[in-house]
Amino acid sequence: MNPTFHIAVLEGDGIGPEVTREAIRATDAAMSREQAKIEWTHFPWGTDYFFDHGRMAPADYLDQLAPFDAILLGAVGHPAVQDHVTLNGLLLPIRRRFEQYVCLRPAYLYPGVESPLRNKAPGSIDLLVFRENTEGEYVNVGGRVYAQSDDDIAIQTAVFTRRGCERIIRAAFESAATRPRKRVASITKSNAQGFGMVLWDEVFAKVAKEYPQIATESLLVDRSVMEFVRRPESFDVVVASNLFGDILTDLAAIIVGSMGLAASGNIDPTRKHPSMFEPVHGSAPDITGKGLANPLAAILSAAMMLEHLHLRHAAEALDAAVKSLLANHGPRTPDLGGTAQTTQVGDAIVALLK
Ligand code: NAD
Ligand code: IPM
Ligand code: MN
Repeated sequence: MNPTFHIAVLEGDGIGPEVTREAIRATDAAMSREQAKIEWTHFPWGTDYFFDHGRMAPADYLDQLAPFDAILLGAVGHPAVQDHVTLNGLLLPIRRRFEQYVCLRPAYLYPGVESPLRNKAPGSIDLLVFRENTEGEYVNVGGRVYAQSDDDIAIQTAVFTRRGCERIIRAAFESAATRPRKRVASITKSNAQGFGMVLWDEVFAKVAKEYPQIATESLLVDRSVMEFVRRPESFDVVVASNLFGDILTDLAAIIVGSMGLAASGNIDPTRKHPSMFEPVHGSAPDITGKGLANPLAAILSAAMMLEHLHLRHAAEALDAAVKSLLANHGPRTPDLGGTAQTTQVGDAIVALLK
């Protein structure tokens, strides 16, 4: 019997549905290489659901997602509703409840893509960010007192635990050990954040001792953004807190050409819970509905999902199709200097997979 993988699809808002549709088409085409099937289950959750129901998803939505093998997400966020409402109502609780403590975000300069940085050779930028994904600055612990008055007080706390720091840092070292360059850079701001990020630095130093074959550096975040521009080639694996990892991965995306190429996986390495795969980019309201969205980030995220599900032939085929499209100057969307529509890029990927 061929196994069936059950995937929950949350297309979400803005360009989310446009790019997710192409990721599903491409995945279906790539799956002809596997003795397995994918069954997609679509959930209509997001801001349109919010307009009808006053919430982003049903109260038991996490329980509904729990039995799936993985989740494929487009994007969440709508200009008419405050982002902290939409994101805390759908996306961020998934990462926490399903212990997706590794947010894996590769950035690779593909042949055929130009970096906005001068004279960068294809493949010269090849880094992998391990973003902590369940705690840190994103725990949303705090409160508001005397809101909207002159005495307004807001408290927002970051939470760093030894267990939380150790598991993401260890995951980064384990990955670096399998890569040729064997380097890990840790990014904090422990000169100003004297508790949580000092704990992070201590844990980093302790875990590093267990991997003597791996070269390490520890950078302050302000310097690190400068070094991402000055010497991006020097980075291999990068490990950072939730917020710093978020910021660094938009930067990593643009130095390898576009937000429209940046893929991401929210991974529970223990496999107790479903992992979730989504592009790094958001709902891009400025280009929604115009056919301008680059679907390649969503397609590469689907490839990460296939890899996670051990559907290696399909994953490799998707990666190869994207690589070939870019290297051979196939149709591309305006973010990459082209004039193609979202669906034309999707068609070209499907054709390459046939
Ligand atoms: P964004 O990533 O949506 O857009 C940033 C810029 O990149 C825009 O100019 C956009 O047009 C462009 N862009 C993004 N994806 C693209 C693609 N696939 N092809 C071509 N161009 C692309 O970031 P933003 O504008 O800061 O956020 C918009 C909304 O998305 C907000 O509501 C935000 O909270 C939300 N958001 C959601 C996620 C998510 O769901 N994972 C991620 C980031 C932002
Ligand atoms: C991302 C996004 C989210 C994050 C937002 C939308 C909460 O920017 O996935 O990078 O910060 O994690
Ligand atoms: Mn982000």
